Amino acid sequence: MKADISTKIAGVKFDACIFNTSGPADVTLAELEIIARSKSPAITMKSCTLEPRAGNPEPRYADLEYGSINSMGLPNLGYKAYIEFAAVLKRKYKKPIIASICGMTLEDDIIMFNAFNNSQVDIIEFNPGSPNTIGKAIVGYDAKEMDRLLKAVSKVCKKPWGIKLPPYFDLVHFDEIAKVIKKYPVNFVTCINSLGNGLAIDPATEQPLIKPKGGLGGIGGRYAKFTALANVRRFYELFDRKIQVIGVGGVYSGTDAFEFILAGASAVQIGTAFLQKGPGIFNKVQTELQTLMAKKGYIKLSNFRGKLKIL
Ligand code: SIN
Repeated sequence: MKADISTKIAGVKFDACIFNTSGPADVTLAELEIIARSKSPAITMKSCTLEPRAGNPEPRYADLEYGSINSMGLPNLGYKAYIEFAAVLKRKYKKPIIASICGMTLEDDIIMFNAFNNSQVDIIEFNPGSPNTIGKAIVGYDAKEMDRLLKAVSKVCKKPWGIKLPPYFDLVHFDEIAKVIKKYPVNFVTCINSLGNGLAIDPATEQPLIKPKGGLGGIGGRYAKFTALANVRRFYELFDRKIQVIGVGGVYSGTDAFEFILAGASAVQIGTAFLQKGPGIFNKVQTELQTLMAKKGYIKLSNFRGKLKIL
C-alpha cells in the first residue's frame, strides 16, 4: 500500500503535501494550467500587485550549479487577472487555489485581500518577504512594519491565510517575528523566500549573470535548503503547532521533502526545481517520498512530522 502523503493546510485538504511555490512559471493562465494538469495537488499563483507589472529588466533569472538567482521584480498581470484565473482553474481542475499578495503599500494589500475574499481562491499567502522589488525594503525584516501590516490585513481577510517569510539568520529575529505573527489569526507561514541579494558572476565576461540591482538577486535551489530547514524547524518550535509551517527551498527529491517534514513542515513547495526540471518534478518528489516512507515503515506524514531526533 502506498504511504498517505495527503495533508491539510489551513483546514483545506491537499491530496499530496508537495506543490508549487509562488514565483516560477505561474504568471499566465497557460502557465497555471500546466501546474493544474501536473501532480501538484494545489495551484499557487504568482504574487500579484494592484496594477500589472512588467518586472525588472532582463536578464533577470539564471540557473546556477546548485540552484538559481533571480531578480524578477514581481512581473504579474495585476490582481484582477488572478481573480479571473482562479474562477477558470477552479471550474476546470477542482484543486485548491492559492493567491499570493504582494502590494506596494498597505492600502494596495487591503484592496487585494478584500477582492480575493469574494473569489474562488481557497487560501491567501501574503508575501512581504520579496527581496527583488527595486526601492522597496524586505518588509519581513521589519517587525514593527510587519505588525502594522498584519494587524490591518487580519481585519479584512476572510479566507484561510498565511505569510511567506524571508529567511532569518539570527535567533533573536525568529523570536521577534514569531511574537508578532502570534498576535494575529495566521494559519501558516511559508519558509523561506529566496536568500536575498546574492551575486553570481560570469568569470568569462566578468559581468554579473543578471542585470537588475547591479547583479544582486534572490538565491534559490540547493543553496537555500539548509537555511530553509532551519527556518522551518525554528518556527515549528516557536509556534508550538498552533500555526502551520510550509517549507520551500532546494527541494529536488523525496529525501529533501522528507527532511522538511521531519523538521516540522506540514507541506513542501517546489520553486527552482520546477523551473529547471519541469512539471514532472511534482510526481517525482511525491513518489520518492512515498518510497522512502515505505522503507522506514511510515504510513502517513504524522508518523514523522516534526519528530527530528535530537543528538
Ligand atoms: C520576484 O518576482 O522578484 C520574486 C518574487 C518573490 O521573491 O517573492
